[in-house]
Amino acid sequence: MKGLFITLEGPDGSGKTTQVAKIAEYLTQQKIDFIQTREPGGTRISDKIRSLILDPEHNEMHDLTEVLLYAASRAQHVHEKIIPALESGKVVLCDRFVDASLAYQGFGLGVGEGPVLQVNQIATSGLVPDRSYFIDVSPEVGRKRMTVRYGTENLDRIEQKDLSYHERVREGFQHIFNNQEKRIHRINGEQDPETVFAEIVEDLDKLLSNHKEN
Ligand SMILES: Nc1ncnc2c1ncn2[C@@H]1O[C@H](COP(=O)(O)OP(=O)(O)OP(=O)(O)O)[C@@H](O)[C@H]1O
Ligand SMILES: [Mg+2]
Repeated sequence: MKGLFITLEGPDGSGKTTQVAKIAEYLTQQKIDFIQTREPGGTRISDKIRSLILDPEHNEMHDLTEVLLYAASRAQHVHEKIIPALESGKVVLCDRFVDASLAYQGFGLGVGEGPVLQVNQIATSGLVPDRSYFIDVSPEVGRKRMTVRYGTENLDRIEQKDLSYHERVREGFQHIFNNQEKRIHRINGEQDPETVFAEIVEDLDKLLSNHKEN
């Protein structure tokens, strides 16, 4: 595939969406053809599945239902939007992807890495990002940022879970990172947004120049 697939990963409130916006601005300035998208969601059908997953009333949702719904949403997103964009040579900038399912469902819920990988292998037809930026913050810092922004009563079903769940999610992200240091770049998300962005751009520039040469 000719394009370049970049994902942003990390716990709630780590600053993914903030950095996606900055990267998008940067790519626009560089006149690079790109699309910006997010998970869960990114297409009409994926957005409907997203609201099913995140509805705070759906307390009875089984862990495996959650895994399969995320994967279903992703299957639609990958095949309707991401693969066509990559095939036409675009940069695809995506807020969360399979690593998030591994961290949240595989580790956070305890479904396990194997089943989550298996289901997602089918959903994505094996598509793996060229680069993933893992923005790492402690659950306390992430939670504090979220509640400053939304207040505790407006957190969705996943965000409302206790800190021990979010601690397992972070350990999950770290485990994934330790196993795939070539694809995933870890960035300390507790620095100010400009410093985080500068670290991303340092790597992104190299990636883009290699991409142009090919
Ligand atoms: N480096 C930073 N330092 C301090 N505050 C930040 C930083 N990055 C983002 N924020 C603030 O923290 C809050 C959460 O940021 P953001 O929405 O980008 O995180 P996120 O990782 O996308 O969260 P979510 O997982 O819920 O989508 C926002 O209010 C944002 O302005
Ligand atoms: Mg976000």
